[in-house]
Amino acid sequence: MNRRDFLKTCGLMGLLIEGKIAFSSSTPSISFKREVPLKREDGKPFNIKYVKRYEPYIFFYPYASTPCLLVDVGKKAEGGIGKGSSIVSFSLICSHQWAFPTPSETFITYYGPEETSLADRGNVIQCCVHMSVFDPLKGGEVIDGPADYSLARILLDTDREGNLYAVGVKGKDQFQEFFQANRSTLKRLYGSLKKAKEIVKESRVIRLKDYTGEEIKC
Ligand code: FES
Repeated sequence: MNRRDFLKTCGLMGLLIEGKIAFSSSTPSISFKREVPLKREDGKPFNIKYVKRYEPYIFFYPYASTPCLLVDVGKKAEGGIGKGSSIVSFSLICSHQWAFPTPSETFITYYGPEETSLADRGNVIQCCVHMSVFDPLKGGEVIDGPADYSLARILLDTDREGNLYAVGVKGKDQFQEFFQANRSTLKRLYGSLKKAKEIVKESRVIRLKDYTGEEIKC
């Protein structure tokens, strides 16, 4: 979806004002909207051409502590952008009981097409806390395990130069449940819950393996 289509779909162009968060009641599937530029570690724009196929990246959106996965799944995916419509993004908070990557380890991660998973295939997102598997090709829907909900999708867009933006969240995001369930960890990581809940104005993109100490796979 390009930016024009996104705005048309939402019908709320006037609400995308810098510094304001816009919630849509007429489009319940989009739970959050705000345009945030994605940046490289050096602060320059993160261009879509930097996304390496099958390499999982992490950035934080819409809150300082809510992690998102960015990945090129190598084939056309639901909601995908880029030449092959293969670049997708999801909230990397497990929709089952809100496991998420920390600097020390992550139990939820992307598995490339050559890897095996509990769903007997690769190209999945899997959480090893209680073995839920999600399909990044089909909007993050549950393939296996106890999760009841798809992963929330992060809507992406590019400008004319190909620089990437996160522009919204689609689906059941569970951010409030995440804050509640992980209060003590978030306080430790961010200094306070207030800081963990700060809305980001821009977000740095890094490889997931550079963010976390260990990707735990099962
Ligand atoms: S927290 Fe991820 S499967 Fe339970």
